Amino acid sequence: MAEIRIRNTEQRISGEENVRAFLEQQEVLYEHWNTSKLAPELQEKFVLSDEEKQQVLATYKEEIKDLAERRGYKTWDIITLSELTPNLDELLKKFENVHTHTEDEVRAITAGKGIFIIKGTDDVGYFDVELEAGDVISVPEYKPHFFTLMDNRQIVAVRLFIETEGWIAHPFADPVFETNKA
Ligand SMILES: [Fe+2]
Repeated sequence: MAEIRIRNTEQRISGEENVRAFLEQQEVLYEHWNTSKLAPELQEKFVLSDEEKQQVLATYKEEIKDLAERRGYKTWDIITLSELTPNLDELLKKFENVHTHTEDEVRAITAGKGIFIIKGTDDVGYFDVELEAGDVISVPEYKPHFFTLMDNRQIVAVRLFIETEGWIAHPFADPVFETNKA
């Protein structure tokens, strides 16, 4: 299950209901998929063939369809990142810049872990959402954020889009973030 860390206060929030309530206040969608549906050999595999990617999508077909119908997503795919991804360090460096999009950024983690760093309301400031397999998150359009990996540096996630062009990153220069960085 996801956990929250509020950067200004080091406060941690855990437990599905607490996490969901906090994220709801911050207008971030949080849901959870049943990862035991996924074939065991795909639960710890971070380099996937096209067939394996299709297998992950087929496993979660109902969940994807439900999410897409509720929220208007038209296309989806699988992204994988691991030590075997060419130029992983460069890629992560590129990721670690606060930015916004004109559509929401939705990710369903199917293996591994990742963190969204999100700019919350003024009373909260920046917070981390630590995600693991089964966690589904949607960062609203125009909400400053970035994504990075956790220490294990590996993840597989489903991405869903309304328009793929909507996912272009617009840099968000924020002096507040510099003081929230740790
Ligand atoms: Fe983003």
